[in-house]
Order: sequence, then C-alpha cells, then structure tokens
Amino acid sequence: MDWVGVDPLHQVVTRDEAMDFIPWLSVRWQSSPPDSGHYLWWDDKGLALKSAAIDARSSVHVDFLHGAQARRVKAVTGEALTRAMGCQKGLRPSIIDMTAGLGGDCSVLANVGCEIVAMEKHPVVAALLRDALRRAADADTTWCENVQFRHADSVERVSGVSHGVIYLDPMFPKERRAAPSLTMQVLHSLEQTTDHPERLLEAALDSDAARVVVKRPIKADFLGGRVPSSQIKAKTIRFDLYPKRKLTIDDCERFQGMVDA
Ligand SMILES: C[S@@+](CC[C@H](N)C(=O)[O-])C[C@H]1O[C@@H](n2cnc3c(N)ncnc32)[C@H](O)[C@@H]1O
Repeated sequence: MDWVGVDPLHQVVTRDEAMDFIPWLSVRWQSSPPDSGHYLWWDDKGLALKSAAIDARSSVHVDFLHGAQARRVKAVTGEALTRAMGCQKGLRPSIIDMTAGLGGDCSVLANVGCEIVAMEKHPVVAALLRDALRRAADADTTWCENVQFRHADSVERVSGVSHGVIYLDPMFPKERRAAPSLTMQVLHSLEQTTDHPERLLEAALDSDAARVVVKRPIKADFLGGRVPSSQIKAKTIRFDLYPKRKLTIDDCERFQGMVDA
C-alpha cells in the first residue's frame, strides 16, 4: 500500500537517505497535506505521522533525544518493567520485544543494558520507530547499540528462541482512556495488527525462552486465560510473569540469527 508523504522543506536528499532505512514503506510524496486520512510528514526532525482529521500541529513522532521519552529513558533505575524482565545486579537478560510499537519500553530496557530484538509488524509504526533509532544512533546514543530492530510479524519469528526473555505488550482495550492522545488514536486505528493477541502469548510460550512477560492493564483478564506464576504491579498496569526456568548469565547472550529468517 502507498502512504501519502508531505515534505514541506523539500529535503529530498536527507529524506531519501532516511528512507533507505525503511525500505518496506512505499510513499507517494506530495507538497501539501491531503484532505483526509493519515499521512506521513517529513521535516528536519525526521519522520512523523499526522491525521487530516486532527489538529495539524499534532503528530505521532518518536523522539529518544528530547522530551518525555528521553526523560523516561534517563530516569529509569528499578521500575516495574525492568524488575519484570528479571534485571538485577550482574544480570541483564536479553529480550525479544514482540510488540515494539513506538519503542517506549524497549528503549528503557536497552538503556539499562539489556540486548533487545525489537519487532514491529505495522509498516508505519515500524518506520516511525526505525527512523527514531536512526536519529538516536546518529547522535551517538549508546543504548542504540543494544537494539536490533526488525519490521516483522513476531509470531512467525520466535519459535527458535532458546534463551532470554520474551516480552509482549499487546494493544490495550479501547475503553482504557476517556480522551486518548493522538498517538493512541492512531495506534488504535491500526488495531488490525493486534488481532488475536493471545497468539503472541502462545507463540512465546512455545519457545524455549526462560521467561515470558505480558503487560496488561491492572484490572484486565489474563491474556488467553493463561494464569501467570506471579505478577509485578504498577499503578495502572501490571506485568504477568510466565517463567520456565531461573534466569542465568546464559540468558544475557545477544540473540543471533534466528530472528533474521
Ligand atoms: C501497545 S503497542 C506496544 C507499545 C510498546 N511496548 C511501547 O512501549 O511503545 C502494541 C504494538 O504491537 C504491534 N504488534 C501486534 N502484533 C504484532 C506482531 N504479531 N508482530 C509484531 N508487532 C505486533 C502493534 O502493531 C503495536 O504497534
């Protein structure tokens, strides 16, 4: 499918270079925004997604260098997410993030020293994240070295996983927020990508990962009715833990090969 792209600064050279990182995305560039639908926006801050139906000043743009996500990455010490993964002194498990989304969780985990393979199925979400990783790497952000990104359906890629942790954060139900942000509105409008989230859990549990972790809204049912062995709770969300064995130093090895198929 062709996506509409708008490049008001006509930075074709830098835009073309950036598009080399996201070869899966087919874009029809034009000079002004369309009257309807979602469209891509390219400017000196990189790639963003906008919606003609929503205030043009709003956009979905991933930025690991400035703003809220940059602060979150820097601030993390012992948040529930890192504890759920089994991070402790001397142990930083390698992680497959089956639902990378806009990279919020995977950047935090990479920054504390976990090796991550981050997979995102939706072409535009994947492109926004890939472009943000490119910009962060260009700015010498060291945690980027811990992230291997794949635009892929993770259900098809995890069967060969033999160590580490598999993490999944499927889309929360729509009712969760009364006034969702543009980011959530756009992600929800792409919801077909999260059909049958229990498939993600089945695939993860079928692998030989040492532990599977699922993020859920605090009051939600267990995903696929699978009862976890334990939970780590935060204010509005919780992590359901499905351990297969104790994590050891062998679970910290970088993933090789099996996700590339
Ligand atoms: C709630 S978001 C994840 C948010 C992410 N944890 C973060 O911190 O930004 C869920 C994402 O999972 C992606 N997804 C769903 N099923 C997938 C699959 N089978 N393979 C890869 N990505 C998938 C969706 O496209 C969506 O972007």
